[in-house]
Amino acid sequence: MYLTKDEEKILEGEKGEVLERMFRLLTRLGDIYGADKMIPVGSVQVAGVSFKSIGDPGLEFLEDFAGKGAKVQVLTYLNPAGMDLEDWDKLGFPKEFAEKQTRIMNAFKKMGIVVTSTCTPYLAGNLPRFREHIAWSESSAVSFANSVIGARTNREGGPSALAAALCGVTPNYGLHLDENRKPSVVINVDADLKYNSNYGALGYHVGKQVKKAIPLFKGLSNANTDQLKALGAAMAASGAVALYYVEDQTPEANQQDINGLETIDVGEKNLDETYEKLNTGKEPDIVIMGCPHASLREISTLADKVEGKNLTKPVWICTSRMVKEAAQRMGFNDTIEKAGGKIVADTCCVVSPIEEMGYKTTGVNSGKAANYLPGFCKQEVIFRDIDILIQGALK
Ligand code: F3S
Repeated sequence: MYLTKDEEKILEGEKGEVLERMFRLLTRLGDIYGADKMIPVGSVQVAGVSFKSIGDPGLEFLEDFAGKGAKVQVLTYLNPAGMDLEDWDKLGFPKEFAEKQTRIMNAFKKMGIVVTSTCTPYLAGNLPRFREHIAWSESSAVSFANSVIGARTNREGGPSALAAALCGVTPNYGLHLDENRKPSVVINVDADLKYNSNYGALGYHVGKQVKKAIPLFKGLSNANTDQLKALGAAMAASGAVALYYVEDQTPEANQQDINGLETIDVGEKNLDETYEKLNTGKEPDIVIMGCPHASLREISTLADKVEGKNLTKPVWICTSRMVKEAAQRMGFNDTIEKAGGKIVADTCCVVSPIEEMGYKTTGVNSGKAANYLPGFCKQEVIFRDIDILIQGALK
């Protein structure tokens, strides 16, 4: 891989141990994937933030780096942490967990990383532009950035994203190159997609079928950004789809040559089967929405549905701190809290220790959450649309 004189100096250790280690990691990745050079990135999103995911070794690694003066060079956000960073006590998160999580956040802050933890950075002040090169980690955010915004990112691991943030560059390979962004399969959808959860079910089904391919969807009319984020998140979770196109709706979709591509038809029956497969529980003891993190529109929808009512079991909607504050100003938080629900910021059902908090069956409207909760959180799952979930929680 071609390196500039300055980059060679970093590898020789002229800019310190931390940069040398991080740059070495990036060059190794570049060599493995055949990158020709490094390219500057406009922003970074780092995964591996929850204490539940990285444990003591991760915490020590981050504190060591922060203590050695590591500083990020570009706008860098974080994936969800393991708890609401302000309301963890009220919500029942364990104290020892909270102490470790706080140390992790302090280490990130010392490195200059914006300590807001969200998988929807594009809704919270980290919005790339069309064709901008970025280095993001979280699979649903990567999918949204590549597909809905038309930015360019591979799915980075936590360490390679942190390296990109500290060095300001990433190796030029994979989805940074136009020739690797062509669709490889056409998905013809013929189904009624009324709820966001239907897009999650569709994404789960398609991800399972196409695995790492780049699908181009036909037949999705007027999907909004919440529905597209649900679709992409589920496809990235059940498969490894990091880029998709939707005819007439996402950038560059209509410029693609789809002649001769394999075609897969998806109908109501496939969605029904997906719901059936992902529903493993009987009665939720908690309902958690906001996977990926909820937009203001999703919070406002929930507020409308519970206004003046009494929830009989915990209902959380997870979001970023920024969106929670906007919801607060609109009075949505008060409405949801009066009904007995909670807007939980900075974390999500999968990376928070809900199994340690006594929950065994979780109701979700997200195909991604339904996919991960059994393995990551030992949960039985109820995967339904928001109306069915809220109806059940009002009983
Ligand atoms: Fe986000 Fe957690 Fe879902 S990171 S996409 S809310 S599993």
